[in-house]
Amino acid sequence: MYRSHSCGQLRTTDINKEVTLAGWVQKTRDKGFMIWVDLRDRYGITQLIFDEERTPAAVVEKAKTLGREFVIQVKGTVIERESKNKNIPTGDIEILVSELDILNEALVPPFTIEDETDGGEDIRMKYRYLDIRRNPVKDSLMFRHQVAMKVRNYLSNEDFIEVETPYLIKSTPEGARDFVVPSRMNEGQFYALPQSPQTFKQLLMVGGMDKYFQIVKCFRDEDLRADRQPEFTQIDCEMAFVEQEDILNIFEGLTRHLLKEIKDVELGDFPRMTYDEAMRTYGNDKPDIRFGMKFGELNQVAQHKEFKVFNDAELVVGIAVPGAASYTRKEIDKLIDWVKRPQVGALGMVYVKCNEDATYKSSVDKFYDQDDLAKWAATTGAKPGDLICILSGVTNKVRAQLSALRMELAERLGLRNPEEFAPLWVVDFPLLEWDEETERYHAMHHPFTSPKPEDIPLLDTKPGDVRANAYDLVLNGNEIGGGSIRIHDKETQALMFDHLGFTPEEAKAQFGFLMDAFQYGAPPHGGIAFGFDRLVAILGGQETIRDFIAFPKNNSGRDVMIDAPANIDEEQLKELNITLDL
Ligand code: AMO
Repeated sequence: MYRSHSCGQLRTTDINKEVTLAGWVQKTRDKGFMIWVDLRDRYGITQLIFDEERTPAAVVEKAKTLGREFVIQVKGTVIERESKNKNIPTGDIEILVSELDILNEALVPPFTIEDETDGGEDIRMKYRYLDIRRNPVKDSLMFRHQVAMKVRNYLSNEDFIEVETPYLIKSTPEGARDFVVPSRMNEGQFYALPQSPQTFKQLLMVGGMDKYFQIVKCFRDEDLRADRQPEFTQIDCEMAFVEQEDILNIFEGLTRHLLKEIKDVELGDFPRMTYDEAMRTYGNDKPDIRFGMKFGELNQVAQHKEFKVFNDAELVVGIAVPGAASYTRKEIDKLIDWVKRPQVGALGMVYVKCNEDATYKSSVDKFYDQDDLAKWAATTGAKPGDLICILSGVTNKVRAQLSALRMELAERLGLRNPEEFAPLWVVDFPLLEWDEETERYHAMHHPFTSPKPEDIPLLDTKPGDVRANAYDLVLNGNEIGGGSIRIHDKETQALMFDHLGFTPEEAKAQFGFLMDAFQYGAPPHGGIAFGFDRLVAILGGQETIRDFIAFPKNNSGRDVMIDAPANIDEEQLKELNITLDL
């Protein structure tokens, strides 16, 4: 037996017990006649004491050779500590060691394995297995496990069955690039790794599984950000004989359950907002509604004077920034520089200071009088003491720019409290999205999403206006889930492929299996997938998902620990019939 107890287990009630512990040496303090060692494992830290008077001399000598991160086993007696440590649960006791076994020596680690480490991100990623020994990373992984268990239990209690779907498949149409895998046995052909189990879960509905879920890896070759990894995990679900309302109810229930169980936060009914309203009010389809600063559209009250910039704009829109009228000229100039950065891309910013005495001072006083500015204040909801920031230009761009400014200001003003949770359903997404590059419509969600029946006639006249039975769950400004009611009949699916520019032959080549399946009694069905990494990160009060993934990739999609991706040898290439022309 390697150990009788863990390093987080012993208390004063265990005093005088003979115990065996095993773990890593966190720290040693050698006072000559006395050596203390902090012994660490996943469960905690226990102090060991080697005492010249009470510990055999050979054991004390061996203890002097211990280095950081050595793996050891000790036998000894639990005794009461003289100077107690109130910061750790085992802080009232220590182990008076009688036997010491060095199970494995260790090199000096490249960074300190403590909560506050001296290691930068790169070095910690290279030695991720050492980073995992640190509490913040270890706790995040344990937290992830807890959330996964609660999700599984909840869905299982709701009669969902977890079914595994394959990873070596054919391209799935989720809008990102596929990772592909060459097939040795099928010369010149490739599998694709799933961007999601979308088509398989629909086939499971045709197969009568009724309620499916899977906590599943998905793979997308897309540019990385704090909330994106090339391989990530979804809580993927599908249900048969349901309408949108049924799906929203179940997954609202799941989210509420998780928040109650994990954060002890009681949430009421989740608000809902149409995509159009979200874009108009927040310039964004995943608005953070923990704070205000709603958009006020100012075209009506700002395009009647000689100010050409506004008059030429498709949209003039502003937000009232609480308490920011006190910003100095220099601070405002900095804000203007911020919106002009290429990442945001605004050409400039007009501002209005709403003074405490109900007068206004703006950067466009030359063109507008106090009455005009009062109307702007009313439209943006600005109060005395606020600063109105106004952008203008092409609608889509201006909305995105002002939304970026809104989020930045909220961050600076401390309005994004990670302990506050504001979920929101965004519904009625557009079915199609115009793609400038290819000059054609793409499915905004995926090609199996059903249009709202009443909008189908618009497919031929105004395709961009057709709404879908599609919804996203947004939590604190993050898209944590998305789904839709699917098309379940062959005719509508063919109509959809037609509008997406697929010839019947192309559609058959890519999705013939699904269209065939739909001829054998496909039930009405729909589903949703939550981004599990994102959900865990947000519940954990953070937005960087990397911290909640055991072995994440860096921003260039590399695993710097195992050094992947990597070249493969000639033999392997030959076997796969691949010739490289680099
Ligand atoms: P969607 O593409 O919206 O829908 O993905 C669902 C959720 O997965 C998360 N997500 C990601 N998380 C981390 N890294 C990524 N690269 C990444 N990409 C997406 C998001 C997102 O909301 N098959 C459909 C679901 C359905 O229709 O049922 C799908 O995959 O949180």
